[in-house]
Amino acid sequence: MSVIEKIRRKAALSMKRIALPEGSEPRTLAAAAVLRDESLCRPVLLGNPGEIRAAASLAGVDIRDIEITDPASHPRAEAYAETLYELRKKKGMTPESARALAKDPMHCGVLMVKCGDADGLVSGAVHSTGDMLRPALQIIKTKPGTKIVSSCVLIDCPNKSLGEDGLLIFSDCVVVPCPDAAELADIAISTADTATTLCGIEEPKVALLSFSTKGSASHELVTKVREAAEIAHGLRPDLLLDGELQFDAAISPEVGELKAPGSPVAGHANVLIFPDLQSANIGYKIAQRIGGAEAFAVLQGLAKPCNDLSRGCSVGDIVNTVCMTAVQAQA
Ligand SMILES: CC(C)(COP(=O)(O)OP(=O)(O)OC[C@H]1O[C@@H](n2cnc3c(N)ncnc32)[C@H](O)[C@@H]1OP(=O)(O)O)[C@@H](O)C(=O)NCCC(=O)NCCS
Repeated sequence: MSVIEKIRRKAALSMKRIALPEGSEPRTLAAAAVLRDESLCRPVLLGNPGEIRAAASLAGVDIRDIEITDPASHPRAEAYAETLYELRKKKGMTPESARALAKDPMHCGVLMVKCGDADGLVSGAVHSTGDMLRPALQIIKTKPGTKIVSSCVLIDCPNKSLGEDGLLIFSDCVVVPCPDAAELADIAISTADTATTLCGIEEPKVALLSFSTKGSASHELVTKVREAAEIAHGLRPDLLLDGELQFDAAISPEVGELKAPGSPVAGHANVLIFPDLQSANIGYKIAQRIGGAEAFAVLQGLAKPCNDLSRGCSVGDIVNTVCMTAVQAQA
């Protein structure tokens, strides 16, 4: 069974409530209908009810029995505004601007999650990554013990001898442009935890990638990766983690044995930590477009799950992202 099928089945076990702030967007409406029909979770469409029903009718989507919440007349709007004001007053937010923002579907959805009125949120079919991320970062913030929010992409490869039965987890492909060594260590630990909680990998094997393996090259970029491995190891000695390793040394048993003999990870890594956002984002797209892998992106490190979509997403992508969010909410 593929990783995403396992995640869909796991999501269906708990029927979490997932807020969808882009409630009148046609692919989101169609995804909500699939989530209802297949009993994967309880989607909540946010927006003006009249506009949502008109959009559903135009798209030919039956949204019967799907909950619609209007941020403009939400019964908890005042409580949400108060929460937002308390969180952001030191940053210059006024009660008036908090009241106005709480009526914006994205902020309302994030506040629903913050206040426990929804288990998670998925958005981004219309909004940019930054527009979706900023309210989540400002309102939901990081989970205890985690310093930064980052992301990972589940790479389901056709070659099942790679990683964990063909599954490799790449990070950080979406959020942190230039992590320093401490941030890279944080990303490595978050990704190992995501491997376990979302993908059921009991023993993540974490490789911190570079263009050098164990001192084969000297450069400040290599030093950063080596320092990150040391910091992560110090923080989580229980994890199987090593770096710096080249990509081939991380995933090929023969090259791993040759270049990093005795490494607990080399040759068998299932979690791959790239040194920065450029290499990670390019890397996952190469795996997808040239390697024929399926790719599923999630955010990690938030105190409660919120996930971003690509603006080119399909209905299936939205369903999958909602299911991943529901499984993250179970943890
Ligand atoms: C994540 C991102 C949106 C943050 O945007 P930004 O303009 O830097 O936002 P700010 O610096 O104003 O940060 C907003 C808040 O989030 C916090 N924050 C920013 N990045 C954070 C992170 N990775 N983890 C935790 N908090 C973070 C900031 O500390 C700030 O908190 P504050 O307002 O309480 O002080 C930005 O890093 C970004 O655009 N990343 C790349 C995303 C992208 O385009 N990806 C494309 C690949 S698909």
